[in-house]
Amino acid sequence: MMTPRLQVIADNVLKNESMADIGTDHGYLPVYLMEQGFIPRAVAADINEKPLRKAEQLVARSGYEKQIETRLGSGLSVLSPGEAGTIVMAGMGGYLIRDLLTESPEVAASAKRLVLQPMNNAFIVRHFLEDNGFLIINEDLAKEERRVYEIIVAEKGEMSIENDLDYLIGYEAKRRKHPLLPELIDRKLELENKIIEHTKNKQTEMAREQYQKSTAIAAALMEVKNGCKMQ
Ligand SMILES: C[S@@+](CC[C@H](N)C(=O)[O-])C[C@H]1O[C@@H](n2cnc3c(N)ncnc32)[C@H](O)[C@@H]1O
Repeated sequence: MMTPRLQVIADNVLKNESMADIGTDHGYLPVYLMEQGFIPRAVAADINEKPLRKAEQLVARSGYEKQIETRLGSGLSVLSPGEAGTIVMAGMGGYLIRDLLTESPEVAASAKRLVLQPMNNAFIVRHFLEDNGFLIINEDLAKEERRVYEIIVAEKGEMSIENDLDYLIGYEAKRRKHPLLPELIDRKLELENKIIEHTKNKQTEMAREQYQKSTAIAAALMEVKNGCKMQ
């Protein structure tokens, strides 16, 4: 079943190119892309057997067993360089996505496009992309139930992210006009305010630094949020 989040991810997958869905779980994405005729073949991979079995069953029901190969394994280790035009990594933490890309640099660099949807710590993913020769070509947001998700689309290239806020809420200036941006900012503000509350009376240097950093981030987020309201 395609959800709004998976739909945004699907919309950013390159047409007529093979794709790999790393951490596929249910396998909805590759099956949908095949059914729509958007891709010629796919690899649906997962580190855990149980989710991979779910994907296998869905692939079998869809009749695309020849075109969608399921593979058991961690991250990009299941792929050879150049095998996937688009690599999708969705529904995992930002640190895990960063680590899996770092562990298989040749495979990551050989993809024409990465579509990444970190569940948290998206700033780590943006730092990784900037430091490893990727250019963010699109960023989008999707809402499911009460949660807003960040989708980051990157290709090989160079970029220089100018300020901390761009790591936190998105590299592209146009993203700042996204209708879901105020909700994303609210969520990030909530997290920063928790840190502020937690560190405000602590005396260690680390806590003081964190307090100052989070206070500055919260102020910057408020500024963007107020700017969004005025548009
Ligand atoms: C929350 S599900 C996301 C499923 C799907 N990608 C989506 O966005 O709806 C995360 C999946 O990632 C898988 N996973 C976790 N660590 C992984 C790794 N190192 N390599 C491959 N898959 C992994 C889990 O087994 C799980 O099925």
